[in-house]
Amino acid sequence: MAAENIHPIFDRLLSRQEREQRLRQNARVFWLTGLSGSGKSTIAQGVERRLFEAGYFPQVLDGDNIRSGINNNLGFSLEDRQENIRRIAEVAKLYVNSGVVVLSSFISPTRAIRQQAAEIVGEVDFMEIFIDTPLEVCEARDVKGLYAKARRGEIKGFTGIDSPYEAPENPFLSIPTAEMSVEEAVEQVFEAVIRAIQWTE
Ligand code: ADX
Repeated sequence: MAAENIHPIFDRLLSRQEREQRLRQNARVFWLTGLSGSGKSTIAQGVERRLFEAGYFPQVLDGDNIRSGINNNLGFSLEDRQENIRRIAEVAKLYVNSGVVVLSSFISPTRAIRQQAAEIVGEVDFMEIFIDTPLEVCEARDVKGLYAKARRGEIKGFTGIDSPYEAPENPFLSIPTAEMSVEEAVEQVFEAVIRAIQWTE
């Protein structure tokens, strides 16, 4: 393609920086990872509410608004999980480029899957948060009854039972939820997020 036929319009597009300035926040993707039932979505929703009340502009991405919509053709093989996370990372990148603070809440079970997400989003904007709840605790809670089903063999390839979960090696933040209340967990994530997104003129 001849270069003279390309007409870049970048100078007419609103920049990410202009959007961040309007929203008075540094956009980032906070990538919550952990087992099913670890508390990821509860914490993400609590932090979203706290951020919004404090004047920031956050957006949670989780299974309810992704796996029932854009990713409703995907299952739980490792291949499908990788595609699930690839698309979510692309969506998160669109949000971050429009100045929004993203809280994503997916098991994202392997280091390779999360590494791919970090590369898509961009390492600088990708902040990994490990919701560190032991399998025994998730299984004892079993909020959705899925661990019981997995143990009975009614669900195959369940994370932590017969499908792998690899804990992050060097996360931005770790939250050992078994040792604290939901409110404390939300508070700790909120404090760390605020420091990372604070807008300074
Ligand atoms: S991921 O592995 O692709 O990141 P994701 O976070 O989107 O998973 O979805 C996980 C949720 O799907 C679980 O919290 C659970 O409610 C449900 N689920 C259904 N089947 C499985 C399975 N085989 N393994 C894990 N979670 C499952």
